[in-house]
Amino acid sequence: MATEGQSATGLMGVAVRGLEASRRSAVAPFLAMDVFKEAARLSAGGHSIIRMEAGEPGAPAPLRVREAAMRALQDGRIGYTQTLGIPLLREAIAQHYRDTYGVSVEPARIAVTTGSSGGFALAFLALFDAGARVAIAAPGYPAYRNILDALGIETVALATRAADRFIVTAAMIEEAHRMRPLDGVLLMSPANPTGTMMRDEELAAICATCERLGIRFISDEIYHGLTYAWPAQTALAFSQQAIVVNSFSKYYCMTGWRIGWLVLPEQIVRPVERLAQSLAISAPTLSQIAACEAFAARDELEAVKADYVKSRAMLLEELPRMGLRDFHPVDGAFYVYVNVSRFTNDSMDFCKRLLSEAGVATTPGADFDREQGAHAMRLSFAGASTDVGEGISRLARWLKT
Ligand SMILES: Cc1ncc(COP(=O)(O)O)c(C=O)c1O
Repeated sequence: MATEGQSATGLMGVAVRGLEASRRSAVAPFLAMDVFKEAARLSAGGHSIIRMEAGEPGAPAPLRVREAAMRALQDGRIGYTQTLGIPLLREAIAQHYRDTYGVSVEPARIAVTTGSSGGFALAFLALFDAGARVAIAAPGYPAYRNILDALGIETVALATRAADRFIVTAAMIEEAHRMRPLDGVLLMSPANPTGTMMRDEELAAICATCERLGIRFISDEIYHGLTYAWPAQTALAFSQQAIVVNSFSKYYCMTGWRIGWLVLPEQIVRPVERLAQSLAISAPTLSQIAACEAFAARDELEAVKADYVKSRAMLLEELPRMGLRDFHPVDGAFYVYVNVSRFTNDSMDFCKRLLSEAGVATTPGADFDREQGAHAMRLSFAGASTDVGEGISRLARWLKT
């Protein structure tokens, strides 16, 4: 994928030497966020746009979360917190592991971060030196590669196929490591953009293989809770050496609160703390206070999930009727990753036209897969099911024209 130009221009557009952006900043754009910007511009200009591009819940944060934030604001001072987070939130997160997975985690191993995005940067810096090699799945979440690129860490794409449920296996990791040693593996389940999930035995095998080969395993568990076929298991059930990344953004509907967490092996806690002291000082205080309430908001959040269940059912039924039959039937998360090669071999252009001609914002596959992405498009059903229904109708009409 082409990177964006970096040359600095001065008066009259003449190039200014020495004032260019750094080479490490030349990461690929995150296309979903570029479409997000364009869709927001069109909406603000009065166009009716159905937003199926972003992985962003349409529902607000749970009421008790918002009430806790309001109380904290009324109380006055919002200061820094301890770098690894307020003790109450770290304890609530530890309790969540006991309640949800029956896994015991010391609060001392939890670092509260600025979204999981902030957690990735800290984890990568704490675990890997420049030049290290980290395997990720293709298709996969684009920011992994972009953050790793910016840090001078090499990514090794493990290509997955719809026919194999888009799953990375322990055998694939072992093979890649045999060809050239890996330092880390970063996987997610449920996965963005495919909606695939690892079964417990697949996750267990990956944890065991990584431990045996001395490879760091990072498990992105941000879509836990959003599962439709079987519950998601945490990597901590199989390995105390795994690094878990999670966030309040998705199941808990708190994207803009920018609050997430890491669960770290003991020996990585202090390195992360030292890095976070300087890179962040602390995660947003108001969000930390509010997030303490999130785990108690299950009823409200399950109602939001019930709406995703409706949207998922509509998409799984209607897409094949439009001739879009090739997709994984979404075990979890809120995305359908559809092969659109019947209609185009340039999904970037396809998504642009779908937005401008039919008012449906989606994300082109190139964001997730540099090799095969031109044949694919991601539809997010994180918005209200009524909007998803309208998006489906518009897509069906547009494909007929
Ligand atoms: C797989 C995955 N991980 C991490 C993130 C980042 O989320 P946040 O920084 O809001 O926690 C996203 C966002 O879409 C994602 O899809």
